[in-house]
Amino acid sequence: MKFSTRAKNMEPSATLAISGKAKAMKREGKPVISFGAGEPDFTSPKAALDAAKEAIDKGETHYTPATGIPELKEEVAKYYERRFGLKYNPSKEVIIGSGAKPLIFESLGCFVDPGDEVLIFAPAWVSYVEQIKLCGGKPVIIDTTQSNFLPSPSSIEASLTPNTRGMIINTPSNPVGVVYPEETLKAIADLVVKHDLWIIYDEIYERLVYDGLEHINIVSLDSRLRDRTILINGASKAYAMTGWRIGYALGPQEAMSKIGDFQGHLTSNPCSIAQWAALGALRGAEEDVKKMHKAFDERRKKMVSLLREIPNITLVEPKGAFYVFVDIRNCLGKTYEGKTIDDDVKFCEMALESKYIAIVPGSAFLVPGFVRFSYANSMEEIEEGIRRFKEMVAAIR
Ligand SMILES: Cc1ncc(COP(=O)(O)O)c(C=O)c1O
Repeated sequence: MKFSTRAKNMEPSATLAISGKAKAMKREGKPVISFGAGEPDFTSPKAALDAAKEAIDKGETHYTPATGIPELKEEVAKYYERRFGLKYNPSKEVIIGSGAKPLIFESLGCFVDPGDEVLIFAPAWVSYVEQIKLCGGKPVIIDTTQSNFLPSPSSIEASLTPNTRGMIINTPSNPVGVVYPEETLKAIADLVVKHDLWIIYDEIYERLVYDGLEHINIVSLDSRLRDRTILINGASKAYAMTGWRIGYALGPQEAMSKIGDFQGHLTSNPCSIAQWAALGALRGAEEDVKKMHKAFDERRKKMVSLLREIPNITLVEPKGAFYVFVDIRNCLGKTYEGKTIDDDVKFCEMALESKYIAIVPGSAFLVPGFVRFSYANSMEEIEEGIRRFKEMVAAIR
């Protein structure tokens, strides 16, 4: 069988691979603690479950409009107006997709021609690079590890070429949990306007920001970006609804019409029942969002304080999302249980095989030498998992 160059060049999702391996080991009866998954461990809010049950009972089992049911689009538009003071026309400027992931791909599909360059700020979420490549584009990676995990305007400007078309911004970020401050976003906005670029603004973690910080929506910060930005959001992280697969995208009419056509040929509508469930969540799960936020914040503090007790590793305190990105470069090249730790991938394999803890190598996020912990885990699992991690690091020679 001969595969396309596209298929051959694609890297599998490292996060899904780790959580898959961890789940398989769990099924074999191993006491695995997974810090790998990028999903809340809570059950979806009752408002979502009830709305889904009602939709089933009402027989909402048919195709819906390819870009989503009008009721949900209206609710998303209302949410954006309430939360960010932004006005989007629900029927023409809002699209409901099968998760945020396909919406990012469809947006890239509508913007990227072969050879076009798209900027991403590393460490970055695993799928951006692959999706850009699938569209024939060239991911241009800007390393932010030396600048507090934020891109500097000068590094962006230095990366621009006549082929640069746009960029993907993710705040709060996965895997670092960095929350982009106003000054960074303002500087980016100026560059985007000056160089006639577009932005895919992935704010899927916008409800998970801590320590009194505010998530900033870049369009509400600078209205010049209204016509050159696709906002990406969804029910997965805010409402613990990863399995339902509901995302939303908002942007200018012309672009949304193209993205809608793309979706029409790709997935058609997202699951009808899941759309009603997401509507239930948007209308009635605010209290659940607050409760989950509080729980995540407590876990974040616990994770950070436990990890900070461990010598030879360092971290920057995350201010958003539910991840901690840990610098393990001091451990590389040394030995653990008689074997050399060549790199972060090897480190993660050893952690899983020897201590039954699943963590994701930084190289999956374009930054080798780091590992990502997700703290979407119970407090007990966090304490036990970090205890094992500490034991492992202590045994590195
Ligand atoms: C930064 C980022 N964007 C998008 C997604 C995809 O979200 P969804 O599950 O809605 O497709 C994820 C999921 O891990 C993510 O971390």
